[in-house]
Amino acid sequence: MSAAGTFTFGDKTVDMPIRKGTIGPDVVDIGKLYNATGCFTLDPGFLSTASCESKITYIDGDEGVLLHRGYPIEQLADQGDFLETCYLLLYGELPTASQKADFDYRVTRHTMVHDQMTRFFNGFRRDAHPMAVMVGAVGALAAFYHDSTDITDEKQRMIASMRMIAKMPTLAAMAYKYNVGQPFVYPKNDLDYAANFLRMCFAVPCEEYHVNPVLARALDRIFILHADHEQNASTSTVRLAGSTGANPFACIAAGIAALWGPAHGGANEICLRMLGEIGTVDRIPEFIARAKDKNDPFRLMGFGHRVYKNFDPRAKIMHKTCHEVLGELGIKDDPLLEVAMELERIALTDEYFIERKLYPNVDFYSGITLKAMGFPTTMFTVLFAVARTVGWIAQWKEMIEEPNQKIGRPRQLYTGSPQREYSAISKR
Ligand code: SDX
Repeated sequence: MSAAGTFTFGDKTVDMPIRKGTIGPDVVDIGKLYNATGCFTLDPGFLSTASCESKITYIDGDEGVLLHRGYPIEQLADQGDFLETCYLLLYGELPTASQKADFDYRVTRHTMVHDQMTRFFNGFRRDAHPMAVMVGAVGALAAFYHDSTDITDEKQRMIASMRMIAKMPTLAAMAYKYNVGQPFVYPKNDLDYAANFLRMCFAVPCEEYHVNPVLARALDRIFILHADHEQNASTSTVRLAGSTGANPFACIAAGIAALWGPAHGGANEICLRMLGEIGTVDRIPEFIARAKDKNDPFRLMGFGHRVYKNFDPRAKIMHKTCHEVLGELGIKDDPLLEVAMELERIALTDEYFIERKLYPNVDFYSGITLKAMGFPTTMFTVLFAVARTVGWIAQWKEMIEEPNQKIGRPRQLYTGSPQREYSAISKR
């Protein structure tokens, strides 16, 4: 705690403590404001509002810095693997070799889902969007795993957390297989997380599936890049749902639903469609003009960010990974990549984007990479959800363990009708 800020409202003055974080902006603790002055604050998009205190992830939007428990994303993506990042996000420290081996073992042995889930899937249309299937299937886990829904029991919280992290790739692969009309593929315990997911998606019963280690490593890195990102919209959704005491499966299902939005995790799917719609480099000026036109709802998908006003550090690593994957697959002169790189070059020299500090975000190059790996565009946000599950779980766990945790219940500025009397329909 440090000096207090003073707020004067009419004839009332109230001192509000200013709290300092380890790094980053200070906050004014306005918890007493309403009782002291009878007024609320209003900040619909949370542009100036911190919703919680957290030790998990720090973003410096001006410098393009992303830290998980203090470790730069570049180092985690370059030197570690996804399950190591999961351990770090959940427990706050990098694991020792034995802790990592134990964590990998526990996650691997929770990858199967209750076989009754296959009948649950059969209720969907084959052409359902995989994100719609994931919202349903993940929420339905609460109907299968009753023994880990009591959030007051730390052991049950830990089991539910491991189940979520372990089963998301299996459910995601099932959603894909169901969509393409192929049989589900069971996880294999001798494969690591990303390799297992690739095999569950692309193996068929008719032949052996050999995981390409370069693609598995690239996908593992893509999972790391998407693991957590402070209090983004879907994480805030999970925290709010969790604050009511809802079970973790329901909270993660709510997070998946929020992530699906085109302004959030759904942007990777739309970004690739946009690159396809642009088609060739010569059509880029037309789309740049549309992005700048206030009367046109079109936005440059994969560009801009609420927090990053510099390069999204994940976008740079994603770009490098994109070239790695295309190179491994022998894809030369990918027209989508050519359009993406030229679009980025032009946008970064255009006053409109410079003035608004709009840079490529994590979604800009992910679609090209995932498409090259064989994933349909409808699966891009599903992969984002698979990776982000650990971030949602870590933030949910932190919220639940908060000693003064309260149900989230914002207030409002009411601008509707003052009280009035009911009139009979015959008199209206
Ligand atoms: C993710 O929060 C997170 O951390 C999210 C995420 C995570 O890991 O969880 O990082 C993942 O969601 C990345 C973002 C993916 N979304 C997109 O790529 C969709 C396209 N981007 C935009 O919709 C937008 O940039 C947002 C939603 C990402 C951010 O919106 P803000 O912060 O509310 O900014 P804004 O809409 O107020 O825009 C500020 C200005 C506006 O112009 P003016 O009214 O000031 O003239 O910039 C313009 C906007 O019109 N603008 C864009 C633009 N993004 C913002 N103009 C054209 N194209 C764009 N992409």
